[in-house]
Amino acid sequence: MTDVLTPVLTDNWGDDRSWTLDSYAARGGYAALDKAFAMAPDDVITEVKESGLRGRGGAGFPTGMKWGFIPQDAATEAGRKPKYLVVNADESEPGTCKDIPLMMASPHTLVEGVIISSYAIRANQAFIYIRGEVLHVIRRVQRAVQEAYLAGHLGKNIHGSGFDLDVVVHAGAGAYICGEETALLEGLEGRRGQPRLRPPFPAVAGLYASPTVINNVESIASVPSIIEHGHGWFSSMGTEKSKGFGIFSLSGHVQQPGQYEAPLGITLRTLIDLAGGIREGHELKFWTPGGSSTPLLTAEHLDMPLDFEGVGAAGSMLGTRALQIFDDTTCVVRATLRWTEFYKHESCGKCTPCREGTWWLVQTLTALEKGQGSEADLDLLLDQCDNILGRSFCALADGAVSPIMSSIKYFRDEYVAHLTEGGCPFDPARSTAWA
Ligand code: NAI
Repeated sequence: MTDVLTPVLTDNWGDDRSWTLDSYAARGGYAALDKAFAMAPDDVITEVKESGLRGRGGAGFPTGMKWGFIPQDAATEAGRKPKYLVVNADESEPGTCKDIPLMMASPHTLVEGVIISSYAIRANQAFIYIRGEVLHVIRRVQRAVQEAYLAGHLGKNIHGSGFDLDVVVHAGAGAYICGEETALLEGLEGRRGQPRLRPPFPAVAGLYASPTVINNVESIASVPSIIEHGHGWFSSMGTEKSKGFGIFSLSGHVQQPGQYEAPLGITLRTLIDLAGGIREGHELKFWTPGGSSTPLLTAEHLDMPLDFEGVGAAGSMLGTRALQIFDDTTCVVRATLRWTEFYKHESCGKCTPCREGTWWLVQTLTALEKGQGSEADLDLLLDQCDNILGRSFCALADGAVSPIMSSIKYFRDEYVAHLTEGGCPFDPARSTAWA
C-alpha cells in the first residue's frame, strides 16, 4: 500500500537529528545548489517552469511563471531595482500542518531551496516569514540559517559562484491574515498586517515596492529536488495539469493522522487507507480538501482525484491539501460555527463585508446551532454569505463562507433538525467536534 507514496520532502524526517546540516549533507544536501550554480539563472527558471510545479500554498499558481514575471532588464527602472525572495511560512489555515513539520524536520531543504530560488530570480536578499506562535520552528530555522552561513552556503560568493545572498528569519506576530501575501509584506515592512490592493502583484511591486517573489515553504523546498533530478522526473508524477507530489496532511477521525507525501491526483480513499482507516465503528461524514477555507465535501467524493482540476470540478479547491476528516459523530453545524468564529476573530477589519459580515455570520449560526429561529434564518445566513463572497478585499472572507455554504448544501437537514429538536441533535458527550 505504501508504494503509492513518493517520499521526497519527507524522506529524511525519520533520520537521526534530521534537522542538522551534518544529517542533511550526509544525504547529499546542498549538491543541487552546485548544479544550479552551473546553470544560468534563466535556465533554472526554465527548469522549474517545465517541471510544472504549481504553488503549494493553496492557490496553485505556476511557480516558474511567477519567477519569470520578475523584471530583469537593466535598461528599465523596474529591472534595476533590488529583487527579493520571501518565503511564506505563516502556515495558519485550520487543518494545515505540512510546512511546520517540514521546517522542523528538514529546515535545510528549505534553506537550499531559498538559495537556488534567489539565484534564479537574482535576489541577494531573502526573508523567511514564520508564523509567530511557533517559536520552536522559528528557532530551528534560525539555527539552520546560521549553520548554512558557517558552512559557506550563505553570505558572499557562495561556493565560489560570485552569487551573494543574505537570509533573514522573521517572526510574525500571530495574525492569520499575514499569510495573505500582501498583508505579509505590510508586516515585514513594519506596518499593521492588512492586505494591499492587487494589482500590482508583488512580482512587480512587492517588498519596499521592489519586484518580489513570494512562495510557500513547500514550493521552495521542492526546488532542490527538481534541480537535482530534472523537470522530467518531477512532471512524470501527478496528473496532466497538476504535476509532481505534495504533502497531504490528514487530521481528525482517522486512525493515524499525519503527513503523507504522494503524487497529486491520489484519492482520499487511498489516503484514508494509508492512515489506517476511519475510527473504528464509524463512517466518513464530511471532509475538507484544503483546510476550512475550501468547501466541504462528503463520502461521495472519496474517489475524486486530489489535484487542482479534480477538486475544482467537485465545487471545491485543492488548497493546502489539509484533509480534515470528520466521522458520523460530528455535528456539522457546530464544526462550521467553530470555523466561523475563527474567521471572525482573524478578520483584519480593513473591509466592511469581512469585518461586519463575519460578525453577523457568527450571530446567525450561533442561534441556529442552539435551535433558535426558523428555517428562514438559513436563507438569511445564505444571503449574508452572498453579500460577502467576492465582495471583500482579500480571500479571507471568501474562505469564511466556504464551510457555511457547502455545509448547507450537503447537510441542510441537519440544520433543520437543530430547529425542530430545539438544539443540537448530537449528544455532546459522543461528539468530538467541539472537544
Ligand atoms: P491568488 O490566486 O490570487 O494568487 C496566487 C499567487 O499568484 C500569488 O502569489 C499572486 O501574487 C500570484 N499571481 C496571481 N496572478 C498574478 C498575475 N497576474 N501576475 C503576477 N502574479 C500573480 O491567491 P491568493 O489570494 O494569493 O491565495 C489564496 C490561497 O491561499 C487559497 O487558495 C487558499 O487555499 C490559500 N490559503 C493558504 C493558507 C495557508 O495557511 N497556507 C491560509 C489561507 C489561505
